[in-house]
Amino acid sequence: MSYGDYLDLSTLLSAQHPLAVPPQHDELLFIIQHQTSELWFKLVLHELRSARDLFTHDKLPVALKRLARVKHIQSTLTEQWTVLATLTPSEYSQFRRFLATSSGFQSVQYRAVEFILGNKNPDMLPVFDQQPEARVMLATMLAEPSLYDVFIQLLARRGFDVPADLIERDWSQPYTVHDGLIGVFREVYGDPEKHWDIYETCEELVDLEDNFQLWRFRHLKTVERIIGQARGTGGSSGVPFLRRALDQTFFPELYSVRGEIAEGATS
Ligand code: HEM
Repeated sequence: MSYGDYLDLSTLLSAQHPLAVPPQHDELLFIIQHQTSELWFKLVLHELRSARDLFTHDKLPVALKRLARVKHIQSTLTEQWTVLATLTPSEYSQFRRFLATSSGFQSVQYRAVEFILGNKNPDMLPVFDQQPEARVMLATMLAEPSLYDVFIQLLARRGFDVPADLIERDWSQPYTVHDGLIGVFREVYGDPEKHWDIYETCEELVDLEDNFQLWRFRHLKTVERIIGQARGTGGSSGVPFLRRALDQTFFPELYSVRGEIAEGATS
């Protein structure tokens, strides 16, 4: 067994197929930037699935170890935008038309990460109608509880007064903010030492969301410097479409409770 055999490098390194005619120097950067992102998405999913499983089995310290790794991957993914930012509008325009309608919007793994973090959207499934395996995988993930859903169940097992309709519900539906859960987090944040592992987990989840938003923001700013206000290859409005995602939250009550604490501190 050699290094190349173990890593199947012949497959990995022969998977870059620039399409531009005549060949364009910068297309390889564009392909590798996407492929490396997809590899990291694969590991993020692997870790998040495991963390969700560990939450289900009340193994919080091990789950937090998984989330710590995810956070480092997210930092790498966010930092990685600086490489793509070296692509100028002139360079991108030399091969953009060869991408046709392909777009990161069609990334199965990215959508899976969004789903497991709780941003469920059944309308995304038809995007994958031409990829039956991907569609089945995403449909399965849509129907499964998210990381946040299983954390809420764990809170109920720990004796917190979690609203019953959050413990069992149709997981495929988008999560909506629940005032009853804010009360639970008020209790946790009101006495961190008493609820330390839960308190720490809440902060880890906020870190995950924060990192996710940083990735989205860097994507948006990189896109803006490369294509300005032009439409995306996937057909969206481009930058305005990407900007809307910055208003989304995976863990709304964890943010609501912060406002309450801040207001309580000033009253
Ligand atoms: C020149 C580089 C890039 C440009 C101009 C660009 C542009 C865009 C645009 C305009 C969209 C909105 C959908 C559309 O109309 O196509 C989008 C979505 C997306 N892009 Fe990029 N992108 C670039 C690089 C990347 C890279 C390297 C990744 C890494 C995987 C990526 C991942 C995504 C994902 C996951 C979405 C879906 C976001 C969502 O649905 O919220 N993009 N991109």
